[in-house]
Amino acid sequence: MRYSGLIEKYRDRLPVTDATPVISIGEGNTPLIELVNLPRILGSEVRIYAKFEGLNPTGSFKDRGMTMAVTKAVESGSKAIICASTGNTSASAAAYAARAGIGCFVLIPEGKIALGKLAQAMMHGSTVIQIQGNFDDGMRLVQELSAQMPVALVNSVNPFRLQGQKTIAFEVIEALGDAPDYHVLPVGNAGNISAHWMGYSESVCQQTEACGLCQGQCPYHPPLARASKRPVMVGNQAAGSAPFLRGAMVDNPETIATAIRIGHPMSWSLAWAAVRESGGWFNECSDEEILASQALLARHEGIFCEPSSATGFAGLIKDLKTGRIRNGSSIVCTLTGHGLKDPDTAIAQSSKPHVVAAERDAIAALIARHL
Ligand code: F0G
Repeated sequence: MRYSGLIEKYRDRLPVTDATPVISIGEGNTPLIELVNLPRILGSEVRIYAKFEGLNPTGSFKDRGMTMAVTKAVESGSKAIICASTGNTSASAAAYAARAGIGCFVLIPEGKIALGKLAQAMMHGSTVIQIQGNFDDGMRLVQELSAQMPVALVNSVNPFRLQGQKTIAFEVIEALGDAPDYHVLPVGNAGNISAHWMGYSESVCQQTEACGLCQGQCPYHPPLARASKRPVMVGNQAAGSAPFLRGAMVDNPETIATAIRIGHPMSWSLAWAAVRESGGWFNECSDEEILASQALLARHEGIFCEPSSATGFAGLIKDLKTGRIRNGSSIVCTLTGHGLKDPDTAIAQSSKPHVVAAERDAIAALIARHL
């Protein structure tokens, strides 16, 4: 059957009815790619799978939540949506609003979002408002504005966002046949880690010890239980914007990973619950570690994700080095957004192209030097 988006696929687990006007661009159903070179290069005997969310319609995981948020906004009669964003949410909101034929207002921190994301928000026809402040300022402003004006707020404080985003856990379980031992990902506003945990929690049998892998046969189980366990959740932050590591909000967050340049995460309690209930933890990674892990994925696995996305993998490298994540484990790493979103950062850290005459001999000499 033709795949037509995650609401259609998981309608029995999402707050929609037959009358709900589904706004979809075919989001979800992203590949779970096993890393074939990096475990060996890192000297670890683990299985690592990258859930490449960069292959969603607008190039990030935000589309999972946005299909739900915009669908519900349209269902309730909204004629416009609004969000604050470090870039990806604005790109996604703009695209889904275009699809729905409603207005879209996005607040972004001036000069602090990656070029591709800005291009998306502009191209999809949203009203782009660059604020002289950071994401946290924008978040406060859109909450105030949406309370006063007829615009629906589609940041992840909108509960429908997390509903859509939880479907990533369903897809991982379907692909692996069960939950992995660990699930690692970057954390910014903290909606995504909360949504992952919600999805895993809805999929697991609460009586696992009694009866092993649940097929929905046991009277104790939720009808949708498919996994025998929930993974340990590991959240990874950029060191300059790491409120979960500090145990308190951070007022002036800074990092090259602009998507997670957030000091006052909205889903603070939900994210702590995910980490505590799962027996997990938070890591912080320097900008150098983030860029190095982005390059490792690009050069050894052919996977180009954006710096923020690589933060999850940077944290995983630390946990493998320290042995906190043991050999023999299966690990899923969510790569939240596509590397093409941020060409400036990619070009700045790569070796420059060779400039040669358009002559066969000159090029042959260059190839010979590099063979
Ligand atoms: N990775 C990317 C690529 C992101 O764009 C974001 C968040 C995150 C990770 C963190 O996810 O906020 O759920 O913890 N970007 C938001 C935005 C804030 O506005 O695009 P989170």
